[in-house]
Amino acid sequence: NKGKYEHYMQKEIHEQPESLTTTMRGRLIRGGSSNRKSVLLGGLKDHLKTIRRSRRIVFIGCGTSYNAALAARPILEELSGIPVTMEIASDLLDRQAPVYRDDTIIFVSQSGETADTLNALEYALGNGALCVGITNTVGSAIARNTHCGVHINAGSEIGVASTKAYTSQIVVMAMVALAIGADTISTKPRREAIIESLLHLPRKVKEVLKLDQEMKDLAKSLISEQSLLMFGRGYNYATALEGALKVKEVALMHSEGILAGEMKHGPLALVDENLPIVVIATRDQCFSKQQSVIQQLKARKGRLIVMCTEGDATAVCGGSCRVIEVPLVVDCLQPVVNIVPLQLLAYHLTVLRGYNVDQPRNLAKSVTTE
Ligand code: UD1
Ligand code: BG6
Repeated sequence: NKGKYEHYMQKEIHEQPESLTTTMRGRLIRGGSSNRKSVLLGGLKDHLKTIRRSRRIVFIGCGTSYNAALAARPILEELSGIPVTMEIASDLLDRQAPVYRDDTIIFVSQSGETADTLNALEYALGNGALCVGITNTVGSAIARNTHCGVHINAGSEIGVASTKAYTSQIVVMAMVALAIGADTISTKPRREAIIESLLHLPRKVKEVLKLDQEMKDLAKSLISEQSLLMFGRGYNYATALEGALKVKEVALMHSEGILAGEMKHGPLALVDENLPIVVIATRDQCFSKQQSVIQQLKARKGRLIVMCTEGDATAVCGGSCRVIEVPLVVDCLQPVVNIVPLQLLAYHLTVLRGYNVDQPRNLAKSVTTE
């Protein structure tokens, strides 16, 4: 039931304050001597010791689920101190990459039924690794066949382009990082700051959804473009990839997410006064590097659309480019806020270009064959 919305994708984008609340429900609990909140993931608590002892953690997924894992990777590395590597499910299998008994492998899948991810799970189980699932579908193949895991509880997602599952996946993986790191005293203030920010996140997402009309206007200005680039780095490298995936899969426009640190190693050659480029430059430890990227793109007359923190429009480009201002949250959760305007942009571009929003050409919600 789409209720007051025209499309499921639109409904699912606007539902995110509620789906994020449901994802966190019962998992942030008061306890300990300080009576501060901490994370309790029922599906992982008996396995945390084993995970902490593993030699590396590997994220495996496809499409949007892969991007969500990429967004969570920095905070998992930081709080666990364990190397975290990323694998596209099909590529792990194509390479028959080494997987060991002391690896923890985290399988991220909205549907829990994606063939590539399931095949990678069979492979990892065969190699004796600890297999953890992050799924949205109770009783799905991945939920059943992993040793343990966490349901993201985002509610059923119908639009082929994943939106609310993406933000709930990031939140769950941030909570996984908090749970794994919970035995480290030195990171306690950092963990408490993240938990505090998690509690405010649904409200911040509600705020950023007010950009709907602004994103519709931006979509109008991009309606007949051939291509759209998105530059991000650090926590928001994933935002660039996922924003571009949304535009590509539903608006049927070529779009590419680019790691800003790679700009001079190729992508800069594409920059001219016509090609629109989204640069994500919200406040975090990469901010000054992104400011310098913006300067370099401007020097080449790049047509920039800069996503920045509220109040930073002048600081990022002296008022001379189009900006999308978003509310600030703790750095590792900023990707949850930042993806929302790009979801709205992809949605409006699709409607304006006259394409099918919920069933994009050639794509399926759940890809159960290789
Ligand atoms: C569970 C209940 C929830 C209840 C809560 C109360 C289920 C599905 N969840 O939630 O209804 O309100 O206790 O304490 O009954 N798992 C995997 N692989 C996956 C995902 C999950 O093996 O990909 C396993 C977990 O290890 C766990 C079980 O499935 O054993 C349920 O996981 P989850 O729903 O995340 O657990 P809780 O949040 O504790
Ligand atoms: C399909 C969907 O390609 O599978 C994507 O169209 C999705 O939206 C991808 O991200 C992976 O699906 P899942 O269910 O494993 O997360």
